[in-house]
Order: sequence, then structure tokens, then C-alpha cells
Amino acid sequence: MKMKIAILPGDGIGKEIISEAIKVLKSIERKFNHKFEFTAGIIGAAAIDKTGNPLPDETLEICLSSDAILFGAIGDPKYDNDPNAKVRPEQGLLKMRKSLGLFANIRPVKSYKALFNSSPLKNHLLDDLDFIVYRELTGGIYFGEKGRKQKNYFAFDVCSYNKDEILRITKLAFEAAKNRKQKVTLVDKANVLETSRLWRETVKNYSLAFPEIELEFMFVDNAAMQIIQNPKRFDVILTENMFGDILTDEASVITGSLGMLPSASVGNKISLYEPIHGSFPEGTGKNIANPVATILSAAMMLDMSFNLKAESNAIIEAVENSLLNEVTTPDINSIKKYSTSDVGNYISNYIDNAV
Ligand code: IPM
Ligand code: MG
Repeated sequence: MKMKIAILPGDGIGKEIISEAIKVLKSIERKFNHKFEFTAGIIGAAAIDKTGNPLPDETLEICLSSDAILFGAIGDPKYDNDPNAKVRPEQGLLKMRKSLGLFANIRPVKSYKALFNSSPLKNHLLDDLDFIVYRELTGGIYFGEKGRKQKNYFAFDVCSYNKDEILRITKLAFEAAKNRKQKVTLVDKANVLETSRLWRETVKNYSLAFPEIELEFMFVDNAAMQIIQNPKRFDVILTENMFGDILTDEASVITGSLGMLPSASVGNKISLYEPIHGSFPEGTGKNIANPVATILSAAMMLDMSFNLKAESNAIIEAVENSLLNEVTTPDINSIKKYSTSDVGNYISNYIDNAV
């Protein structure tokens, strides 16, 4: 099978973690006789530095002419600390999500036995932990009207949703629940927000056609607590853009490291795969970032965009083996201290030799 993959390393540790994912994909290419054609594009602070634009047209064209996109990370402290910056790296990612219609961000949360000791939670809360978050990605407060008034005294960000935006991701979440534990938890703030009430109404109506699937409603503040106190109660979490952003960072640390969680952003056509963590500026260039979330994002890409299940499982098996043998970066094991490239080499060698 021949596939075109757009490679967008982005900022900070992006380059380092993407290199390891490419290394692993090259092992898959050799082992399973595929041809992956990689085309790199710039985005984020790296693109602003070169062109003044966080998402140059050329990058968008590379994405549009590819079969899938593998993305690293975005963000640079020089913009974070400047509230007056007109152009920001994050705008590149948001514009890409919007331009490609990537309305659903899918973030699986799984525990690995080998990482139990790195988790802030007790072991019994982690055994067989496995839930998945469906985060709406192109609406809500992220994309509503925003601005300043009264000579910068007043600022606003509007949160809005329509029924179609809610329905299209709800369908995907229910589809996922059918093949899992048949439970959907809609996380919202319906005791305060009108948009949340529209979500409840729309999702409840949709659920009537699926009596076999349990639908539960939960306020976001309660959900934040339950993810720590009783994470195994969840199967599929369905939620709007900003709640999903916050809850998935929370969910990622309970698995042992923020560096472990992959994600898929899907839309009508092309999909994008990226780790859920950020650009880790303090770690940039030090060869210490955990490449596993990006490597697992590549596994998700093989499975979801190309239907290559065996290939995807080979990556997952190799990652699990690296964890069992404690070949992990310092975020997980600060004693043995394997580097980003050590971990990538181990996983890719495992595929070459052991799968
Ligand atoms: C994420 C990130 C982005 C978001 C940022 C970089 C704009 O935190 O993908 O979760 O808030 O969506
Ligand atoms: Mg986030």
C-alpha cells in the first residue's frame, strides 16, 4: 500500500518526537512492505519566524494533498508571555482544524501496568482503566466571536454551538460506545450554560434510537473530580471543545505521564494525528522528551486512516515492550534515563526484529 503522509513537526520538542515516529513508521514500511511518502510542512512559531504566518498556504496544500497528517506540537513561550502578540503559533493549529473540518478529537485514555508507579493514583483505580474522550474541536468558545471594547477595559469570547455541530460528533461517540462498554457520559455545565442545555437536548434526542447504550449526564466540575476519584466509571466521554481540552490533560497524568497519550482529529475527509501534550519548551533540543504519544499517534493513523490493524498493533506491542523493559524517558523513569532517540530506536528495533 502506498500512502502520502504530511509531517508537521511544529515547535519545541515537535521535531525530536516526530523523528522517532518516522523511524518507527519506516520499520513498519520495511516489515510489512508498504510505501510511505513523507512531505514536511511548517506550522506554528517555526512558520511565523519564516513567513509571518502560523499556517502558510503551502503547508495547508501539503495537508490537502496527503492521505493523513502527523503533527508534533505547537507553542512558544515568547508568545505565551506577550498578551499583545497579534499572531500566535496556536492560531496555526486552530486554523488547520477549521480549514480541514476536523470536528472530532478522539483521545483514548489507557493505563499501562508498567507505569502504575508513575501515576499519582492508587493501583486499584488504574487496573484495566480504559476510556475514550470525544472532544468537539471546531466550535465553542475557541471559535466564537472574540474581541476587546472600551479601550481594552473589556474583553469577550463567545461560546456558541448549533445542533448539527453537536450531532455529528455525537454520532461518532455513540458509534464508539457500541463497540465498547455501551456507555456515553455527556460532560457539560447545563446548570449554567445555554450551549450545554442545547447539547443535553440534542444528545438525549439522538440517544432515543439507541436504547442499548446508557447515556449519563455529568457536570464538568464533577467530571474533573470523578476522573481522579473513580476513572473506571467512564467508557466514552462526549464533550465540547474547552471542557475536552482541560479534562484530557487531567486524564493524561493519571496514566503515568502526559507523554503517553495519542489523539486523532477526524473530519469529513483527511485526519490528523498528534500527541495530546504541548511543545515542552524547557525540554527542547535536550533529547529527553517522551516520543511515545507521537509513536502511538502514528499507530492510530495506521489503524484509522489506512485500516492497517496488524501494523498498528505491531507498534502498540513494541511500545508495551519498551515499557515492560523500562526503556523510558525521564518523565517516567528518572533513574535509568533513556533519551528520546533511545526509546525510538528500541521501539523501531523491536518491530524490525521481534514482531
Ligand atoms: C490541545 C492543545 C491546543 C488546544 C492548543 C495548543 C491550541 O492544548 O490540542 O489540546 O487548546 O486545543
Ligand atoms: Mg490541550
